[in-house]
Amino acid sequence: MRKRDFPVDDVRRFLEPGPIVLVSSAWKGKTNIMTMGWHMVMGEEPSLVGCFIWDRNRSFEMIRKSRECVINVPTVDLAATVVGIGNTSGRTVDKFAKFNLTAVAGALVKAPLIAECHANFECRLVDSRLIDRYSVFVFEVVKGYARTTPRFPKTLHYRGDGLFMIAGPTVSRYRKRFKPEMLRA
Ligand SMILES: Cc1cc2nc3c(=O)[nH]c(=O)nc-3n(C[C@H](O)[C@H](O)[C@H](O)COP(=O)(O)O)c2cc1C
Repeated sequence: MRKRDFPVDDVRRFLEPGPIVLVSSAWKGKTNIMTMGWHMVMGEEPSLVGCFIWDRNRSFEMIRKSRECVINVPTVDLAATVVGIGNTSGRTVDKFAKFNLTAVAGALVKAPLIAECHANFECRLVDSRLIDRYSVFVFEVVKGYARTTPRFPKTLHYRGDGLFMIAGPTVSRYRKRFKPEMLRA
């Protein structure tokens, strides 16, 4: 099958991970939320997640100073909210109030959980060495919460250019081919 050159600065269209998440934070009595697509799992034990947080975002300073956040996983019913949160800055807007979201106290971090999201992960910054160079924060997930239904939620996955893919069918037919021991270091 023929292929065209694909611009290297557009590889995110294929490789961008999902799902889109909402990152909540708290600092000096204020809370905030940002939409985030650029994250990656970096370990299981401990549970590490690397997050790209642009230094122009209000969340950047709030999270760098508090060294904490919550990663919340929204589903398709929150799609308009996810875009709205991404289009506004916590410098001028109280996003919990504007988007009618419920802040729930975390167990181990001061950043609030977003009740309306399917899952919530309390995180602590464990490595700040990549922040200045790459705007990448390495967090350890110290506590997690997830709804029991639906088992496979309809999460949002960003394709660039304002397009989302909504999580589709989950299949088990390849399961017997797996060698689970090859998936971990
Ligand atoms: C679909 C989507 C994905 C986004 N992904 C990221 C991301 O990975 N990292 C980032 O820094 N900003 C990302 N943004 C932009 C922030 O959400 C946006 O700048 C936000 O308004 C920052 O809010 P704050 O200034 O209150 O922190 C994304 C926005 C959208 C709509």
